[in-house]
Amino acid sequence: MKWTATKIKQLKGRQNIVCLTAGDYSMARIIDAAGVQLILVGDSLAMTMLGYENTLPVTMVEMLQHAAAVVRGTKEALVVADMPFMSYQASVEQGLANAGRFIKRAGAGAVKIEGGTFRVPLIKALVENGIPVLGHIGLTPQSIKEMGGYKVQGRKNKEAKQLIRDARELEKSGVFSIVLEGVPESLGREITKAVKIPVIGIGAGRYCDGQILVVHDLLGLYSDFTPKFAKRYVDLGAAMKKAFLSYKKEVESGAFPSKEHCY
Ligand code: KIV
Repeated sequence: MKWTATKIKQLKGRQNIVCLTAGDYSMARIIDAAGVQLILVGDSLAMTMLGYENTLPVTMVEMLQHAAAVVRGTKEALVVADMPFMSYQASVEQGLANAGRFIKRAGAGAVKIEGGTFRVPLIKALVENGIPVLGHIGLTPQSIKEMGGYKVQGRKNKEAKQLIRDARELEKSGVFSIVLEGVPESLGREITKAVKIPVIGIGAGRYCDGQILVVHDLLGLYSDFTPKFAKRYVDLGAAMKKAFLSYKKEVESGAFPSKEHCY
């Protein structure tokens, strides 16, 4: 069964929604085969796959290439392309044109944009033109310079109220779901209750409608920066290093290739 934005929206209150990031074909195939419902081609790949210090430098050209690869590896999950920094901030027209490239050229099923109430004009334009939108509020990494780093948001009453207003405004403007990042658990619960669309948490506590993790964090493949909310389910980084060392040893000793690997 192919997941669409509409089907994901209908999961609220029925089951917890399982989401992961991916940036390449092989990873997408494995994640899709595991039955994950939403795959985000997150701009966090700027750090985990391209080695940038933060998400700000990644370009549309790079994101389009990763999004297209993930789409090729996915049969059932909804693939959401993350719009990179400054691909939608300049104007509604710019955002519409670049979102269209993710849908037309990469074959994505939806786009994600960061920001609250001030993004409503763009969200409306996208939705009216047939492009499903996943919102993203709370800790929005494209604003780290303005936020002064990766800081938990909504701790103060005023900020928390603004985030609840943002979630409601995003819902009214037509997003099918909202990613809520880096807020206290109590606020995560309140925002999840305040809207009828699914709230996907990342560092937003236990009471959201679903969870998303960066796949490199889950697999132990990226250790430059590990937020408190990132759970490592396996240390593939260590397993890979062990395999590379075995390979090195066998090439150096002449044990590889053996007869079975020769024509
Ligand atoms: O870029 C990304 O991976 C994200 C998730 C952390 C939600 O935006």
